[in-house]
Amino acid sequence: MFSISWLILLLTFLFGSVISQTNVDVQTLYTHLFTTNNYNKLVRPSRNQSYPNYLYVSFNLYGISGIDEIQQKLTTTGYLEIEWVDELLSWTPSQYGGLSYILYPQGDVWKPDISLQNGFSKLEDLGSKFISVNIDSSGHVIWRPFHVFESKCDIDSTYFPFDRQTCHLYFVARSLSERDVRLKRGSGIELVDDLQSHGEWNIVSTSSLNLRNQYETKVRFTIVIQRKPLYAIMNYILPIILLSILGVFTFTIPVDTGERIGYVITVWLAFAVFLTIINDSLPKSSETIPIVSIYIMIQISIGTLIVIISAIESRFVHLSDHEPVNTILLTFAQKCRKRRVQPETEIKKCMERDETCVTWKEAITALDKFLFWICLSFFVFSTMISLSIAGSK
Ligand SMILES: *[C@@H]1O[C@H](CO)[C@@H](O)[C@H](O)[C@H]1NC(C)=O
Repeated sequence: MFSISWLILLLTFLFGSVISQTNVDVQTLYTHLFTTNNYNKLVRPSRNQSYPNYLYVSFNLYGISGIDEIQQKLTTTGYLEIEWVDELLSWTPSQYGGLSYILYPQGDVWKPDISLQNGFSKLEDLGSKFISVNIDSSGHVIWRPFHVFESKCDIDSTYFPFDRQTCHLYFVARSLSERDVRLKRGSGIELVDDLQSHGEWNIVSTSSLNLRNQYETKVRFTIVIQRKPLYAIMNYILPIILLSILGVFTFTIPVDTGERIGYVITVWLAFAVFLTIINDSLPKSSETIPIVSIYIMIQISIGTLIVIISAIESRFVHLSDHEPVNTILLTFAQKCRKRRVQPETEIKKCMERDETCVTWKEAITALDKFLFWICLSFFVFSTMISLSIAGSK
Protein backbone atom coordinates (compact mmCIF):
# COMPACT_ATOMS: atom_id res chain seq x y z
CA MET A 1 0.00 0.00 0.00
CA PHE A 2 2.73 2.32 0.96
CA SER A 3 4.69 1.85 -2.26
CA ILE A 4 1.61 2.28 -4.46
CA SER A 5 0.69 5.63 -2.96
CA TRP A 6 4.30 6.71 -3.42
CA LEU A 7 4.13 5.67 -7.03
CA ILE A 8 0.94 7.67 -7.59
CA LEU A 9 2.55 10.68 -5.97
CA LEU A 10 5.63 10.31 -8.16
CA LEU A 11 3.53 9.97 -11.32
CA THR A 12 1.47 13.03 -10.41
CA PHE A 13 4.69 14.93 -9.90
CA LEU A 14 6.25 13.76 -13.21
CA PHE A 15 3.21 14.06 -15.47
CA GLY A 16 1.37 16.67 -13.50
CA SER A 17 1.46 19.21 -16.25
CA VAL A 18 -0.08 16.75 -18.72
CA ILE A 19 -2.90 15.36 -16.70
CA SER A 20 -3.87 18.56 -15.00
CA GLN A 21 -5.95 19.71 -17.93
CA THR A 22 -9.69 19.65 -17.33
CA ASN A 23 -12.70 19.33 -19.55
CA VAL A 24 -13.13 23.06 -19.17
CA ASP A 25 -9.66 23.60 -20.68
CA VAL A 26 -10.55 21.51 -23.72
CA GLN A 27 -13.87 23.27 -24.12
CA THR A 28 -12.27 26.69 -23.79
CA LEU A 29 -9.72 25.75 -26.43
CA TYR A 30 -12.40 24.54 -28.83
CA THR A 31 -14.31 27.77 -28.36
CA HIS A 32 -11.14 29.77 -28.84
CA LEU A 33 -10.07 27.99 -32.02
CA PHE A 34 -13.34 27.47 -33.79
CA THR A 35 -15.68 30.18 -32.50
CA THR A 36 -13.64 33.13 -31.27
CA ASN A 37 -11.15 32.87 -34.14
CA ASN A 38 -14.07 32.34 -36.49
CA TYR A 39 -12.48 29.30 -38.11
CA ASN A 40 -13.70 28.65 -41.61
CA LYS A 41 -12.89 25.22 -42.97
CA LEU A 42 -13.14 26.52 -46.54
CA VAL A 43 -10.11 28.77 -46.10
CA ARG A 44 -6.79 27.24 -46.91
CA PRO A 45 -4.89 27.45 -43.61
CA SER A 46 -2.03 29.63 -44.66
CA ARG A 47 -1.74 33.13 -43.22
CA ASN A 48 -0.05 34.38 -46.37
CA GLN A 49 -2.00 32.80 -49.22
CA SER A 50 0.96 33.32 -51.57
CA TYR A 51 2.58 30.32 -49.92
CA PRO A 52 1.36 26.84 -50.73
CA ASN A 53 0.60 24.30 -48.04
CA TYR A 54 2.92 21.34 -47.97
CA LEU A 55 1.16 18.03 -47.54
CA TYR A 56 3.17 14.96 -46.60
CA VAL A 57 1.50 11.78 -47.68
CA SER A 58 2.46 8.29 -46.53
CA PHE A 59 0.66 5.04 -47.06
CA ASN A 60 0.24 2.43 -44.36
CA LEU A 61 -0.65 -0.85 -45.96
CA TYR A 62 -2.68 -3.47 -44.09
CA GLY A 63 -2.60 -5.89 -46.97
CA ILE A 64 -3.67 -6.77 -50.44
CA SER A 65 -7.26 -7.92 -50.47
CA GLY A 66 -7.29 -9.05 -54.03
CA ILE A 67 -6.08 -8.86 -57.56
CA ASP A 68 -8.49 -9.25 -60.40
CA GLU A 69 -6.43 -10.22 -63.42
CA ILE A 70 -9.36 -10.01 -65.83
CA GLN A 71 -10.36 -6.50 -64.81
CA GLN A 72 -6.75 -5.55 -64.04
CA LYS A 73 -7.69 -4.29 -60.62
CA LEU A 74 -5.69 -4.19 -57.41
CA THR A 75 -7.53 -3.88 -54.12
CA THR A 76 -5.49 -2.72 -51.15
CA THR A 77 -6.52 -2.01 -47.62
CA GLY A 78 -4.78 0.61 -45.59
CA TYR A 79 -4.80 4.19 -44.53
CA LEU A 80 -3.12 7.28 -45.82
CA GLU A 81 -1.29 9.44 -43.35
CA ILE A 82 -1.53 13.03 -44.50
CA GLU A 83 0.21 15.72 -42.51
CA TRP A 84 0.16 19.47 -42.88
CA VAL A 85 0.38 22.62 -40.81
CA ASP A 86 -2.81 24.52 -40.18
CA GLU A 87 -1.53 27.96 -39.25
CA LEU A 88 -4.95 28.94 -38.00
CA LEU A 89 -5.13 26.15 -35.44
CA SER A 90 -2.34 26.72 -32.96
CA TRP A 91 -2.33 27.58 -29.31
CA THR A 92 -0.12 27.89 -26.31
CA PRO A 93 -0.50 24.70 -24.22
CA SER A 94 0.22 26.43 -20.92
CA GLN A 95 -2.88 28.58 -21.32
CA TYR A 96 -5.06 25.48 -21.51
CA GLY A 97 -3.73 23.40 -18.67
CA GLY A 98 -0.93 21.94 -20.79
CA LEU A 99 -3.28 20.62 -23.45
CA SER A 100 -0.93 19.60 -26.24
CA TYR A 101 -3.23 18.04 -28.80
CA ILE A 102 -6.89 17.69 -29.67
CA LEU A 103 -8.95 15.43 -31.88
CA TYR A 104 -11.49 16.98 -34.18
CA PRO A 105 -13.88 15.47 -36.76
CA GLN A 106 -12.34 15.46 -40.21
CA GLY A 107 -15.35 17.20 -41.72
CA ASP A 108 -14.97 20.31 -39.59
CA VAL A 109 -11.43 21.42 -40.41
CA TRP A 110 -9.80 22.32 -43.68
CA LYS A 111 -8.48 19.28 -45.43
CA PRO A 112 -7.13 18.72 -48.92
CA ASP A 113 -9.30 16.90 -51.43
CA ILE A 114 -6.77 14.15 -51.98
CA SER A 115 -8.03 11.13 -53.86
CA LEU A 116 -6.83 8.15 -55.80
CA GLN A 117 -6.22 9.21 -59.39
CA ASN A 118 -6.12 5.79 -61.01
CA GLY A 119 -9.08 4.56 -59.00
CA PHE A 120 -11.31 1.88 -60.35
CA SER A 121 -14.67 2.85 -58.99
CA LYS A 122 -16.26 6.26 -58.74
CA LEU A 123 -14.46 9.04 -56.96
CA GLU A 124 -15.03 8.97 -53.23
CA ASP A 125 -14.16 11.19 -50.34
CA LEU A 126 -11.30 9.75 -48.34
CA GLY A 127 -11.98 8.65 -44.83
CA SER A 128 -15.38 9.03 -43.26
CA LYS A 129 -17.31 11.31 -40.93
CA PHE A 130 -16.35 9.46 -37.77
CA ILE A 131 -12.62 9.82 -38.42
CA SER A 132 -10.97 12.62 -36.47
CA VAL A 133 -7.84 14.51 -37.27
CA ASN A 134 -5.16 14.97 -34.68
CA ILE A 135 -4.13 18.59 -34.18
CA ASP A 136 -1.23 19.57 -31.96
CA SER A 137 -0.55 22.91 -30.37
CA SER A 138 1.69 24.10 -33.19
CA GLY A 139 -1.06 23.52 -35.73
CA HIS A 140 0.43 20.32 -37.05
CA VAL A 141 -2.47 18.23 -38.35
CA ILE A 142 -2.38 14.49 -38.94
CA TRP A 143 -5.24 12.93 -40.85
CA ARG A 144 -5.37 9.16 -41.20
CA PRO A 145 -8.23 8.22 -43.49
CA PHE A 146 -8.72 4.47 -43.70
CA HIS A 147 -9.84 3.21 -47.06
CA VAL A 148 -10.12 0.17 -49.31
CA PHE A 149 -8.36 1.40 -52.42
CA GLU A 150 -9.31 -0.08 -55.75
CA SER A 151 -6.76 0.92 -58.32
CA LYS A 152 -6.09 0.08 -61.92
CA CYS A 153 -3.03 -2.10 -62.33
CA ASP A 154 -1.77 -3.25 -65.69
CA ILE A 155 -1.33 -6.99 -65.41
CA ASP A 156 1.36 -8.47 -67.61
CA SER A 157 0.68 -12.17 -67.73
CA THR A 158 3.47 -13.12 -70.14
CA TYR A 159 5.34 -15.05 -67.50
CA PHE A 160 2.32 -16.64 -65.82
CA PRO A 161 2.52 -18.33 -63.31
CA PHE A 162 5.93 -16.91 -62.46
CA ASP A 163 4.83 -13.34 -63.08
CA ARG A 164 5.64 -10.26 -61.10
CA GLN A 165 3.36 -7.24 -61.26
CA THR A 166 4.10 -3.60 -60.59
CA CYS A 167 1.09 -1.63 -59.44
CA HIS A 168 0.96 2.12 -58.90
CA LEU A 169 -1.37 4.20 -56.78
CA TYR A 170 -1.43 7.87 -57.69
CA PHE A 171 -2.73 10.32 -55.12
CA VAL A 172 -3.54 13.79 -56.28
CA ALA A 173 -5.30 16.81 -54.84
CA ARG A 174 -8.29 16.92 -57.14
CA SER A 175 -9.07 20.62 -57.37
CA LEU A 176 -6.16 22.28 -55.59
CA SER A 177 -3.52 23.44 -58.00
CA GLU A 178 0.20 23.39 -57.61
CA ARG A 179 0.02 26.99 -56.37
CA ASP A 180 -2.19 25.98 -53.46
CA VAL A 181 -0.68 22.77 -52.22
CA ARG A 182 2.41 20.67 -52.79
CA LEU A 183 2.07 16.96 -52.27
CA LYS A 184 5.20 15.29 -50.97
CA ARG A 185 5.81 11.72 -50.12
CA GLY A 186 6.24 11.22 -46.40
CA SER A 187 7.76 7.97 -45.27
CA GLY A 188 6.58 6.06 -48.34
CA ILE A 189 4.66 2.85 -47.99
CA GLU A 190 4.82 1.30 -44.57
CA LEU A 191 3.71 -2.26 -44.16
CA VAL A 192 1.95 -2.72 -40.84
CA ASP A 193 3.37 -5.34 -38.51
CA ASP A 194 0.47 -7.74 -38.80
CA LEU A 195 0.26 -7.46 -42.58
CA GLN A 196 -2.56 -9.59 -43.96
CA SER A 197 -1.01 -12.16 -46.24
CA HIS A 198 -2.62 -12.99 -49.53
CA GLY A 199 -2.99 -16.57 -50.69
CA GLU A 200 -1.73 -15.96 -54.17
CA TRP A 201 0.52 -12.91 -54.02
CA ASN A 202 3.56 -11.82 -52.06
CA ILE A 203 4.59 -8.21 -51.66
CA VAL A 204 8.16 -8.01 -52.97
CA SER A 205 8.94 -4.35 -52.60
CA THR A 206 7.39 -0.93 -52.30
CA SER A 207 8.49 2.56 -53.21
CA SER A 208 7.16 6.09 -53.53
CA LEU A 209 7.83 9.05 -55.76
CA ASN A 210 6.96 12.75 -55.93
CA LEU A 211 5.54 13.74 -59.30
CA ARG A 212 5.01 17.29 -60.37
CA ASN A 213 3.82 19.05 -63.45
CA GLN A 214 2.63 22.50 -64.34
CA TYR A 215 -0.84 22.05 -62.88
CA GLU A 216 -0.68 19.56 -60.12
CA THR A 217 1.56 17.68 -57.79
CA LYS A 218 1.00 14.10 -56.94
CA VAL A 219 2.50 11.24 -55.05
CA ARG A 220 2.94 7.82 -56.56
CA PHE A 221 3.11 4.69 -54.43
CA THR A 222 4.37 1.55 -56.08
CA ILE A 223 3.78 -1.99 -54.91
CA VAL A 224 5.62 -4.86 -56.58
CA ILE A 225 3.98 -8.22 -56.08
CA GLN A 226 5.02 -11.70 -57.07
CA ARG A 227 2.67 -14.60 -57.68
CA LYS A 228 3.08 -17.69 -55.52
CA PRO A 229 3.19 -20.22 -58.33
CA LEU A 230 2.28 -23.44 -56.50
CA TYR A 231 -1.46 -23.23 -57.13
CA ALA A 232 -1.06 -22.64 -60.85
CA ILE A 233 1.62 -25.32 -61.16
CA MET A 234 -0.55 -27.93 -59.50
CA ASN A 235 -3.73 -27.00 -61.31
CA TYR A 236 -2.62 -25.83 -64.74
CA ILE A 237 1.01 -26.45 -65.56
CA LEU A 238 1.44 -30.07 -64.43
CA PRO A 239 -1.79 -31.33 -66.07
CA ILE A 240 -0.79 -29.62 -69.33
CA ILE A 241 2.67 -31.22 -69.30
CA LEU A 242 1.12 -34.63 -68.53
CA LEU A 243 -1.30 -34.16 -71.42
CA SER A 244 1.61 -33.37 -73.74
CA ILE A 245 3.26 -36.63 -72.71
CA LEU A 246 0.03 -38.46 -73.53
CA GLY A 247 0.09 -36.81 -76.97
CA VAL A 248 3.59 -38.13 -77.63
CA PHE A 249 2.54 -41.70 -76.85
CA THR A 250 -0.01 -41.66 -79.65
CA PHE A 251 2.57 -43.27 -81.88
CA THR A 252 2.85 -46.35 -79.70
CA ILE A 253 -0.75 -47.30 -80.49
CA PRO A 254 -0.90 -49.43 -83.65
CA VAL A 255 -2.68 -47.47 -86.35
CA ASP A 256 -4.57 -50.43 -87.74
CA THR A 257 -6.50 -50.99 -84.49
CA GLY A 258 -8.44 -47.80 -85.18
CA GLU A 259 -8.02 -46.63 -81.56
CA ARG A 260 -5.50 -44.02 -82.37
CA ILE A 261 -7.57 -41.26 -83.90
CA GLY A 262 -10.08 -41.39 -81.05
CA TYR A 263 -7.24 -41.22 -78.54
CA VAL A 264 -5.47 -38.28 -80.12
CA ILE A 265 -8.72 -36.34 -80.59
CA THR A 266 -9.45 -36.78 -76.88
CA VAL A 267 -6.03 -35.37 -75.99
CA TRP A 268 -6.62 -32.51 -78.42
CA LEU A 269 -9.94 -31.65 -76.75
CA ALA A 270 -8.39 -31.77 -73.29
CA PHE A 271 -5.84 -29.21 -74.46
CA ALA A 272 -8.60 -27.00 -75.78
CA VAL A 273 -10.31 -27.20 -72.37
CA PHE A 274 -7.12 -26.16 -70.59
CA LEU A 275 -6.58 -23.31 -73.02
CA THR A 276 -10.06 -22.04 -72.14
CA ILE A 277 -9.44 -22.40 -68.40
CA ILE A 278 -6.11 -20.57 -68.58
CA ASN A 279 -7.47 -17.81 -70.76
CA ASP A 280 -10.42 -17.33 -68.43
CA SER A 281 -8.11 -16.55 -65.57
CA LEU A 282 -5.83 -14.15 -67.45
CA PRO A 283 -6.54 -10.70 -68.85
CA LYS A 284 -7.81 -10.59 -72.39
CA SER A 285 -5.05 -8.76 -74.17
CA SER A 286 -3.64 -8.89 -77.64
CA GLU A 287 -0.48 -7.08 -76.62
CA THR A 288 1.08 -9.72 -74.48
CA ILE A 289 0.44 -13.40 -74.95
CA PRO A 290 1.22 -15.63 -71.98
CA ILE A 291 3.95 -18.17 -72.66
CA VAL A 292 1.72 -20.87 -71.26
CA SER A 293 -0.92 -20.08 -73.93
CA ILE A 294 1.73 -20.25 -76.64
CA TYR A 295 2.87 -23.58 -75.23
CA ILE A 296 -0.67 -24.97 -75.33
CA MET A 297 -1.10 -23.66 -78.88
CA ILE A 298 2.07 -25.46 -79.94
CA GLN A 299 0.84 -28.68 -78.35
CA ILE A 300 -2.56 -28.30 -80.03
CA SER A 301 -0.83 -27.75 -83.39
CA ILE A 302 1.21 -30.88 -82.87
CA GLY A 303 -1.97 -32.70 -81.89
CA THR A 304 -3.57 -31.59 -85.15
CA LEU A 305 -0.54 -32.80 -87.08
CA ILE A 306 -0.72 -36.15 -85.31
CA VAL A 307 -4.40 -36.50 -86.27
CA ILE A 308 -3.57 -35.76 -89.92
CA ILE A 309 -0.61 -38.15 -89.96
CA SER A 310 -2.67 -40.86 -88.27
CA ALA A 311 -5.48 -40.44 -90.77
CA ILE A 312 -3.09 -40.80 -93.70
CA GLU A 313 -1.30 -43.72 -92.06
CA SER A 314 -4.55 -45.57 -91.43
CA ARG A 315 -5.29 -45.25 -95.12
CA PHE A 316 -1.91 -46.69 -96.12
CA VAL A 317 -1.86 -49.50 -93.59
CA HIS A 318 -4.87 -51.05 -95.31
CA LEU A 319 -3.32 -50.91 -98.75
CA SER A 320 -2.69 -54.21 -100.38
CA ASP A 321 0.87 -55.44 -100.18
CA HIS A 322 0.95 -55.59 -103.95
CA GLU A 323 1.14 -51.79 -104.02
CA PRO A 324 4.75 -50.61 -104.01
CA VAL A 325 5.84 -48.97 -100.75
CA ASN A 326 6.71 -45.29 -100.96
CA THR A 327 10.47 -44.80 -101.23
CA ILE A 328 10.82 -42.55 -98.18
CA LEU A 329 8.92 -45.05 -96.04
CA LEU A 330 11.06 -47.77 -97.49
CA THR A 331 14.24 -46.19 -96.17
CA PHE A 332 12.79 -45.97 -92.69
CA ALA A 333 11.63 -49.52 -92.81
CA GLN A 334 14.98 -50.82 -93.94
CA LYS A 335 16.76 -48.88 -91.21
CA CYS A 336 14.53 -50.36 -88.56
CA ARG A 337 14.51 -53.80 -90.00
CA LYS A 338 17.99 -54.98 -89.17
CA ARG A 339 17.03 -55.94 -85.68
CA ARG A 340 13.75 -57.54 -86.56
CA VAL A 341 13.28 -61.17 -87.55
CA GLN A 342 10.47 -61.58 -89.98
CA PRO A 343 8.15 -64.58 -89.98
CA GLU A 344 9.06 -67.08 -92.58
CA THR A 345 5.77 -66.93 -94.49
CA GLU A 346 5.77 -63.15 -94.84
CA ILE A 347 9.27 -63.14 -96.28
CA LYS A 348 8.25 -65.72 -98.78
CA LYS A 349 5.16 -63.73 -99.71
CA CYS A 350 7.01 -60.54 -100.38
CA MET A 351 9.94 -62.21 -102.07
CA GLU A 352 7.50 -63.12 -104.80
CA ARG A 353 6.56 -59.50 -105.20
CA ASP A 354 9.86 -57.61 -105.24
CA GLU A 355 13.36 -57.67 -103.85
CA THR A 356 12.98 -54.88 -101.19
CA CYS A 357 10.57 -57.04 -99.28
CA VAL A 358 8.86 -54.42 -97.09
CA THR A 359 5.15 -54.53 -96.35
CA TRP A 360 3.06 -51.37 -95.81
CA LYS A 361 2.38 -52.36 -92.24
CA GLU A 362 6.06 -52.72 -91.55
CA ALA A 363 6.81 -49.40 -93.15
CA ILE A 364 4.10 -47.62 -91.13
CA THR A 365 5.37 -49.19 -87.91
CA ALA A 366 8.84 -47.93 -88.69
CA LEU A 367 7.48 -44.47 -89.41
CA ASP A 368 5.57 -44.47 -86.09
CA LYS A 369 8.71 -45.34 -84.23
CA PHE A 370 10.56 -42.50 -85.89
CA LEU A 371 7.72 -40.02 -85.24
CA PHE A 372 7.52 -41.11 -81.62
CA TRP A 373 11.14 -40.09 -81.04
CA ILE A 374 10.67 -36.87 -82.99
CA CYS A 375 7.62 -35.95 -80.93
CA LEU A 376 9.29 -36.91 -77.67
CA SER A 377 12.33 -34.75 -78.42
CA PHE A 378 10.12 -31.89 -79.49
CA PHE A 379 8.07 -32.21 -76.32
CA VAL A 380 11.17 -32.16 -74.11
CA PHE A 381 12.65 -29.28 -76.07
CA SER A 382 9.52 -27.09 -76.10
CA THR A 383 8.77 -27.78 -72.43
CA MET A 384 12.30 -26.93 -71.37
CA ILE A 385 12.34 -23.74 -73.42
CA SER A 386 8.93 -22.60 -72.15
CA LEU A 387 9.72 -23.33 -68.53
CA SER A 388 13.08 -21.62 -68.68
CA ILE A 389 11.67 -18.50 -70.36
CA ALA A 390 8.75 -18.26 -67.93
CA GLY A 391 10.90 -19.07 -64.92
CA SER A 392 13.69 -16.69 -65.85
CA LYS A 393 11.59 -13.73 -64.69
C1 LIG B 1 3.13 37.12 -48.70
O1 LIG B 1 4.33 36.60 -49.26
C2 LIG B 1 4.79 37.28 -50.41
C3 LIG B 1 5.96 36.55 -50.98
O2 LIG B 1 6.96 36.36 -50.03
C4 LIG B 1 5.08 38.72 -50.05
O3 LIG B 1 5.51 39.41 -51.20
C5 LIG B 1 3.85 39.36 -49.48
O4 LIG B 1 4.13 40.66 -49.02
C6 LIG B 1 3.30 38.55 -48.32
N1 LIG B 1 2.02 39.10 -47.91
C7 LIG B 1 1.75 39.42 -46.66
C8 LIG B 1 0.40 39.98 -46.41
O5 LIG B 1 2.57 39.27 -45.77
